Amino acid sequence: MAIKYELIKTCKQSGARLGRLHTPHGIIETPIFMPVGTQATVKTMTPEELKEINSQIILSNTYHLYLRPGHKLIEKAGGLHKFMNWDGPILTDSGGFQVFSLGPLRKISEEGVEFRSHLDGSKHFISPEKAVEIQNSLGSDIMMAFDECAPYPADYEYVKNSLERTTRWAKRCKDAHKNTEKQALFGIIQGGMYEDLRRQSAEEIIGLDFPGYSVGGLSVGEPKHLMYEVLEYTTPLMPKDKPRYLMGVGSPDDLIEGVIRGIDMFDCVLPSRIGRNGTAMTSRGKVVIKNASHTESFEPLDPECDCYTCKNYSRAYLRHLFKANEILGLRLLTNHNLYFLLKLMEEIRQAIREDRLLDYRKDFFQKYGYEL
Ligand code: GUN
Ligand code: ZN
Repeated sequence: MAIKYELIKTCKQSGARLGRLHTPHGIIETPIFMPVGTQATVKTMTPEELKEINSQIILSNTYHLYLRPGHKLIEKAGGLHKFMNWDGPILTDSGGFQVFSLGPLRKISEEGVEFRSHLDGSKHFISPEKAVEIQNSLGSDIMMAFDECAPYPADYEYVKNSLERTTRWAKRCKDAHKNTEKQALFGIIQGGMYEDLRRQSAEEIIGLDFPGYSVGGLSVGEPKHLMYEVLEYTTPLMPKDKPRYLMGVGSPDDLIEGVIRGIDMFDCVLPSRIGRNGTAMTSRGKVVIKNASHTESFEPLDPECDCYTCKNYSRAYLRHLFKANEILGLRLLTNHNLYFLLKLMEEIRQAIREDRLLDYRKDFFQKYGYEL
């Protein structure tokens, strides 16, 4: 087995889980947030900088790396870790989600998905077997099954057919995956916003016996309370001795609410993407750095943050960088936002250790400015 999950304790106040995930490239303390490096780079950050802010694992994408530079090239380079100079754990998403996001550029059948490249319009076909082959070439520690993420809203019949196909595809992924000693393949639970369909998908996917499971098909435009509801009835169906990953979720409030509902792993482009747009996540809520109110502010982005950016630069300087389109601005805000979320996860782990995660949530939201 490539990975092993160790449940250390559950928070007496909230039921949240504290654990350790052993991977071929090191041990991850959970719950954890995974910075996203879609194209074999977490945009603007070197691996050394990622280590510096305590990134324990990063995520990359099958779809993008298959199209460019090609998985065979990465295999020749010695695998994705070596190619990008990141020696920590890597999780790769299967391409299912990305291919389905292409809209009219794709055609789905039982065999797989035919699509046109968003780069040059060339025609491609990804099947469950192909998604496994690509991820085997990349050599990620954790691979994801090839699934269909149903849109929101979607009617019951559509979601039922889609989750049943996702189960058949998950079985095909499992049969195609031979490198189980070095790479763990996770199953993905779908089922949209329908309780009985989530139950059906959970039973079918868990029945296939994967070393870890994710909840997919969430954060696709549904209201937050619906996502929390789905998690509330889905995570109790998942085995306690395996990691649980909520895909595509990464706002501070969703991380806290997800952990309280039993999730161990998260990923999202949000912190890095809004950082490059000039928005910072801080302990007092969002800061839009281009706002005129920061013109003469010689305070840090977040007075409570001890990241490289907050220790060394003022809001006035960061605003200047963004107004002048200087690259350093993108780097400094990305660094701060990722640090902020990774620190949030560390604080969540500490609160679980001390059985006070609900108290932590209350304090966090009071400062951050969200209503509970
Ligand atoms: N990323 C966010 N949601 C999903 C999902 O449902 N499936 C996959 N494969 N990736 C995702
Ligand atoms: Zn900071």
